[in-house]
Amino acid sequence: MHPIVIAPSVLACDFGRLHDEIQRVQTAGADWLHLDVMDGHFVDNISFGPAFVDATAAVAKVPVDTHLMISRPDHYLPRFVNNSRNITIHVEADCDVAATLAAIRSAGCTAGLSVRPGTPFAALEPFLPQLDLILVMTVEPGFGGQAFQPAMLEKVRTAFELRARLGLSYRIEVDGGVNAETGLQCVVAGADTLVAGTSVFRAPDMVAAIRQLRTRPL
Ligand code: DX5
Ligand code: ZN
Repeated sequence: MHPIVIAPSVLACDFGRLHDEIQRVQTAGADWLHLDVMDGHFVDNISFGPAFVDATAAVAKVPVDTHLMISRPDHYLPRFVNNSRNITIHVEADCDVAATLAAIRSAGCTAGLSVRPGTPFAALEPFLPQLDLILVMTVEPGFGGQAFQPAMLEKVRTAFELRARLGLSYRIEVDGGVNAETGLQCVVAGADTLVAGTSVFRAPDMVAAIRQLRTRPL
């Protein structure tokens, strides 16, 4: 349904050389830039906020895909709508999820909804018609460099089957421990948007790493 999109996670880049790293990954073939906003409450880590997303968006030549791992996305949303193309919130966040998804769309962004490993896929189902993107976390959110959880592939398959059965068109994104091998497993299960931090920014050959991620099953 959708062409494969590779969205490198900027969390894995060298923050001290942010603009160079953004140029480098765009030149290497990134389709989107994935930005992980963490508030130290929804997840046990603090990453960056609106100013960092602004600074990235200022040099971005590709869409900015903002992943809000924060407890109150409804409150902070206005600070991300001008620097993001897609905004993803978590179904476990402490907010009115339906109203927040509607606010994302009415601000002119596409709306994504994410689910942690411990949350059943069914938690997303009431919101499917409101979604442009589903983000299946394939690691516990909060840190890059973690091991991919193969058990999450079942959620990808469910998202794929439900999309066809309900005649919907949302993208299916995976995030966490994605590399050429696990990425292919995700694409076979139905994913079309691959977030990758370590496997792109720490690759000896970034161009080859992104090309390998884009590989479709024969
Ligand atoms: C984790 C973030 C991911 C992470 C991916 O909570 O949502 O985007 O940065 O990094 P890797 O690809 O290294 O697992
Ligand atoms: Zn992420």
